[in-house]
Amino acid sequence: MALSSKDMLGMKELPAHEIEEILNNAAVMKQILMQDSKKTPHLLGKSIVALFYENSTRTRVSFELAGKYMSAAFASVSANTSSVAKGETLIDTGKTLDMMGADIIIIRHPCSGAPHLLAKHVEAGVINAGDGMNEHPTQALLDMFTIREKLGALKGVKVAIVGDVLHSRVARSNLWGLTKMGARVMLAGPATLMPPGLNSFGAETTTDVREAVKNADVVMGLRIQKERQQSGLFPSLREYARYFSLNPEVISHAKPGALVMHPGPVNRGVEMPSSVADCEQSVIREQVTNGVAVRMALLYLMTRRGN
Ligand code: CP
Repeated sequence: MALSSKDMLGMKELPAHEIEEILNNAAVMKQILMQDSKKTPHLLGKSIVALFYENSTRTRVSFELAGKYMSAAFASVSANTSSVAKGETLIDTGKTLDMMGADIIIIRHPCSGAPHLLAKHVEAGVINAGDGMNEHPTQALLDMFTIREKLGALKGVKVAIVGDVLHSRVARSNLWGLTKMGARVMLAGPATLMPPGLNSFGAETTTDVREAVKNADVVMGLRIQKERQQSGLFPSLREYARYFSLNPEVISHAKPGALVMHPGPVNRGVEMPSSVADCEQSVIREQVTNGVAVRMALLYLMTRRGN
């Protein structure tokens, strides 16, 4: 099966049966990743360009490895070393990549909606690798894949997502995706980092971290995004950690053996101490591996369109 849209812009638009298809395909890709030779011909003859206007390690490298494992031609463009720095517009940059034969453009941008604008102006399929405070759909897909792999299902699972919900595109994408797949999502954080209206999108909300975590199957910390903070949203990182850190006592309110997750990069000692980030229940490292498998699946399914 191929995906219905040429682009992957967000979990909000992605139908549940296509989420299921991507996760099923990622399970096959993970088998390939476990082999000695990871090279496959799935994307032979295809061209992929990663266009990153913000820093990234996990997303950028996992897309690059995913593309290269499947034999695609892969090029990376950073805003500060490209003609963007000379004033070229996003649309002109996209059209330039189109003319070079890019089949897929992967974009990370600080402005919400930038991938949507690009998608309207290029022939290539566009993948949103994180746009401002809006969405980070491939992170949600890898999170959902990890939960399903570990717990066997998404339906009925309680997921507590704790931290800087206001600025978190990961929280928004997970909220859309998880609720669509029948999971129960509880969002928690300081009142100043909780935007209004979340309940109308299917989330339960609280400012009490223990209430959020109580009987949860999954506890997911969110990064405090220092680069997006306006002043005054919370007094200090130390104050945040005192009330919202996912420390062992807080985690003890979750179900025994509950999964500990974090999209990374982790601010150790802020969102959670190292004793939790590295504990037996933590699947943070497996999330990174699963990111490659999920992105392999997505690239494969997107390039099958029209075949
Ligand atoms: N989780 C995530 O998006 O990490 P990077 O910023 O390193 O890509």
